[in-house]
Amino acid sequence: MVNQMNEILTAIKNRRSTRKFKPSQISEVELQAILDAALNAPTAKNQQKWHFTVIQNKVMLDNMVKTIKEILLNCGMEFYVQRARDPNYHTFYKAPTVILISAEEKADFVQLDCAAAAENIILAAESLKIGSCFITATNFLFTSSRGNEFKQKLGIPTGYNFVCTIALGYKDGENPAIPPKNKEVINYVDGGM
Ligand SMILES: Cc1cc2nc3c(=O)[nH]c(=O)nc-3n(C[C@H](O)[C@H](O)[C@H](O)COP(=O)(O)O)c2cc1C
Repeated sequence: MVNQMNEILTAIKNRRSTRKFKPSQISEVELQAILDAALNAPTAKNQQKWHFTVIQNKVMLDNMVKTIKEILLNCGMEFYVQRARDPNYHTFYKAPTVILISAEEKADFVQLDCAAAAENIILAAESLKIGSCFITATNFLFTSSRGNEFKQKLGIPTGYNFVCTIALGYKDGENPAIPPKNKEVINYVDGGM
């Protein structure tokens, strides 16, 4: 039993998805520390077949969100149509920085590599008191007819596919509750085979 919380355990416990960000940009030093954490995640066979796109250009972010909303309005799934109709809906919650993670399409287990990097990003952010939200809704953009156009505009390498985005920024007073955790998903196998 660990009876003393260290910094990593504290960051893991305190991290919640942030959906309200201050407009001010995170510092370059903070961004570099977060990217360094991403690059230090484990990868299968140390393949590092991932790619990180840092988007801080508001025009680009708003353009992505506008296009995602247009796609959602026509996707035929009521949940997403309603979401897109909400004038306050912003895929990235107006975060000033978004890191897009993409993966080399043929590499084995590369999605797991990217998920490990994403977790490092959000925990590093939390340790720096920066809010984050793991976002996959961006997938609507990259699987649409405009996906290749955006891949080119964003400089995503040829042969790489979108995996996820992480929105980052200073927290703006939100205090999300801890979602209930179901401990019944853990099974302890005792000895005696
Ligand atoms: C794979 C994955 C995809 C997610 N996609 C979205 C998303 O598109 N939009 C969003 O607002 N949150 C997204 N989330 C955040 C989850 O909703 C959130 O982690 C969950 O509700 C638990 O809350 P917590 O992060 O505050 O603990 C995603 C999380 C994961 C792990």
